[in-house]
Amino acid sequence: MKYERIVVLTGAGISAESGLGTFRDKDGLWTKYDLAEVATPEGFARNPAFVHEFYNARRANLLEAAPNAAHLALAELERRHPGRVLVVTQNVDDLHERAGSRNVLHMHGELLKIRCESCGQIAEWAAALQTATPCPHCQLVGLLRPHVVWFGEMPFYMNKIQLELSVCDLFVSIGTSGNVYPAAGFVADVRRHGRAHTVELNLEPSEGASLFAEARLGPASQVVPAFVRELLGD
Ligand code: OAD
Repeated sequence: MKYERIVVLTGAGISAESGLGTFRDKDGLWTKYDLAEVATPEGFARNPAFVHEFYNARRANLLEAAPNAAHLALAELERRHPGRVLVVTQNVDDLHERAGSRNVLHMHGELLKIRCESCGQIAEWAAALQTATPCPHCQLVGLLRPHVVWFGEMPFYMNKIQLELSVCDLFVSIGTSGNVYPAAGFVADVRRHGRAHTVELNLEPSEGASLFAEARLGPASQVVPAFVRELLGD
């Protein structure tokens, strides 16, 4: 295998065929909801019940979904590749983990976790969350929030991600429109270091398409397994 360190960035497109909506496609979540209302700290402060309702619905949707062939192919790559494979995902779903990936960084947080803004504890949470739900750790009421990153907040693991981008020799971006920074800037970061091959796998060219050395267009459930088979020499 010619690559030793592979970083894979994933976005909503990889989970679309699992039945989870994307954000900016026709019928995407941001065509139905105002992101300022449901995905900002200010929106949550204004109307926490509405924000909980939005994430409760997404959580319920996620519990009915299953990983698709693209998630499974990435898990197989991690299992069989002799080098290192890291998945950096913008997705808050747990489909990479359920497919078997172990080395996953959720830079935008996780839908099945909640955080208390009083004690700071993070807890696993699959049920609906209400404004009256007490913190399972400190018991305070009214300060629980989804453990997701909202607009205006700092994504998680950025130091580790930047380090991995600087040493990888293959960077693959899957199912992301390239609209949201810092993830949208990763391909440029990788190119600045000058050592990695860059590949985009997406339904259509993303905003940053011209920055990738190579592109494969099509549904993730087809193009990702085909690309992984090539990498593994199957
Ligand atoms: P977007 O909805 O912006 O983009 C989804 C991308 O997936 C588009 O480029 C589609 O063409 C592509 N796509 C759709 N179906 C696909 C399929 N079956 N196979 C392959 N590709 C497909 O979603 P993201 O780029 O992930 O952040 O959005 C980035 C961030 O914006 C999200 O993490 C979220 C959102 O606001 C926060 O909430 C902080």
